[in-house]
Amino acid sequence: MGIFLSGTSTSPTQIIGAHDALSARIGLAAGFDAVWVSSLGMSAAAGRRDRNELSWTEIVDAAERIVEAVDRPVILDGNEGYGDREIARLLVMRAAQRGIRGVSLEDKTYPKKNSLSDAIELIGTHSFVDKIRACRDSIGSTDFVLMGRTDALVAGHSIAHAIDRTEAYAEAGADAIIVHSVSSSVREIELFMKQWSGKCPVITIPTTFGAADRDTYRRFGFSGLIWANQLIRAAIVAMRSAAEKLCADGNTVRIEEQIARLSDIFSLSEKDWRKPAYGLPARDSS
Ligand code: SPV
Ligand code: MG
Repeated sequence: MGIFLSGTSTSPTQIIGAHDALSARIGLAAGFDAVWVSSLGMSAAAGRRDRNELSWTEIVDAAERIVEAVDRPVILDGNEGYGDREIARLLVMRAAQRGIRGVSLEDKTYPKKNSLSDAIELIGTHSFVDKIRACRDSIGSTDFVLMGRTDALVAGHSIAHAIDRTEAYAEAGADAIIVHSVSSSVREIELFMKQWSGKCPVITIPTTFGAADRDTYRRFGFSGLIWANQLIRAAIVAMRSAAEKLCADGNTVRIEEQIARLSDIFSLSEKDWRKPAYGLPARDSS
């Protein structure tokens, strides 16, 4: 399959959520294996809600800019595919043409709502299977990773129901499954994995249960973890703190040590951004 997801015996592939090329580069330079182009992150960065308020062509364009900027696989969060199966198919085909290595499609109704902020509804299993199948047929058997994501647990359905859905998505041609949960404990996804057939790799999004120790997800059998929104949340706190101090003080004294050096910006904008600093001037002269 040429899939970049690790097997279950090794540590899960660590996937960092990004909203632009800069955040993707920062994540990869820290050691992450791949990038998740987050719909929540992209929407927030654009001042929009995570409700299909950015169009599918806008998110593919945004992901393509990240592909151009990094040397690791980029996975696009394709939401629910922006409508019927034909639109989903166009999105997936365009993404594949642009060098994006995978797209996730989730089983929500259109317009999608963010799993962490709103009550969500799912489309029927058969409709989603149809969508997955249409995308699979269009892509063929390439290296491209089609991810079928279920929000069944988020919507309050049983684990058995989530299993039925994801088994059907894998049968229909999903190369990997994403099982989302907004539980505060790992117990829910642990129980899911106990019933999972192992048909294809499974990924999860540990936003609300991210405190579990490193090895837990490997023991449960996950092949990948998506740290979907931690970078944009870190950026919000850092930007707010700097903005408030700068505005209150009218000078940079209090924030100088908490903001990036100019040399940092220059090296993060270079082709070879992984090389630290490029011998650029140290903090005091930058
Ligand atoms: C995203 O990062 O946009 C995701 C994860 O899809 S979540 O916001 O939890 O739905
Ligand atoms: Mg999303």
